[in-house]
Amino acid sequence: MINLFQHLREQAVAAPLIELLEVVTNASKEIAFRVRHGALAGVLGSTQDENIQGETQKQLDVISNQLLKDLLLACPHVCAIASEEEDTVVAGNSAGEFIIAFDPLDGSSNIDINGQIGTIFSIYRAQKNLAANDEAQFRQPGTQQVCAGYVLYGPSTLLVITTGKGTHTFTLDATQGTFLRTAKDIQIPPDTKEFAINMSNQRFWNQSMRNYISDLVAGESGPRAKNFNMRWNAAMVGDVHRVICRGGIFMYPSDNRNPKQPAKLRLLYEANPMAMLIENAGGKAWSESQRILDIQPSALHERVAVILGSANEVETCLGYLR
Ligand code: AHG
Ligand code: MN
Ligand code: MN
Repeated sequence: MINLFQHLREQAVAAPLIELLEVVTNASKEIAFRVRHGALAGVLGSTQDENIQGETQKQLDVISNQLLKDLLLACPHVCAIASEEEDTVVAGNSAGEFIIAFDPLDGSSNIDINGQIGTIFSIYRAQKNLAANDEAQFRQPGTQQVCAGYVLYGPSTLLVITTGKGTHTFTLDATQGTFLRTAKDIQIPPDTKEFAINMSNQRFWNQSMRNYISDLVAGESGPRAKNFNMRWNAAMVGDVHRVICRGGIFMYPSDNRNPKQPAKLRLLYEANPMAMLIENAGGKAWSESQRILDIQPSALHERVAVILGSANEVETCLGYLR
């Protein structure tokens, strides 16, 4: 089995990006260690604080963010970081070649129930004409990502990564501390009978989305003439990982719950990296009216609707929305 760094060299990835990924994976191994020890490591429960998005921060959100932040800012290749748990861009080495956005701990509501959680990251080239701490560093569409990935802290710790040449999975061999390649060039089946959506938000969706879901639920006797099954992990990493493993459609559509927040998932460190991974595995990732990777970001923590997964099923869903 080849390890992550052999794989990256095989893919002709340049040394600075490999070194940056070593930092990301070192941080994720630290997080995985703490996740595994749970209450024994004192990482469960909430803090007294909220992040800039008004969400209560869990201990593990803060610990994971601090681990990633400390290690990344010590890396000479990092010009700036953006995190779900940081209000603004944090400057690194102004001569660094890369900027990185991350969700240090995705699926926070699963922390205290020993459920699936993960870390999501997205890497771009730094823009030399801008100051390191300029928010505009991150106003690059997802098509400009040079690398995207997530680490899933499940029964095993997995890294799923793309540098634009396919999507590949690595499993952490905890005895050696090495990520070993366990799936190469993943291909998501174009058709599926499995969907993922938080059904409790139904009354807040637009009519077209309600129609699409009601046709899935109608099963064999409905217009789709086949039965669909539903799964919801409440952690995007877990739901997207299932789609990557066996196909499916994952949706977090726009809704009218809160006029200030038309959608839930964040473009920079949730939608974009997942979209790059899904597309590199032959799937499709849209935000209702446009391809996620084509969206021109306007704010660091902006939220977008997400519809991704098996290409034909995503296309069918978009057909309802047009
Ligand atoms: P985070 O824990 O980083 O704030 O992200 C949670 C996100 C995403 O992982 C998941 O798909 C979604 O929120 C779950 O939303 P519901 O609470 O509506 O199930
Ligand atoms: Mn998240
Ligand atoms: Mn998070």
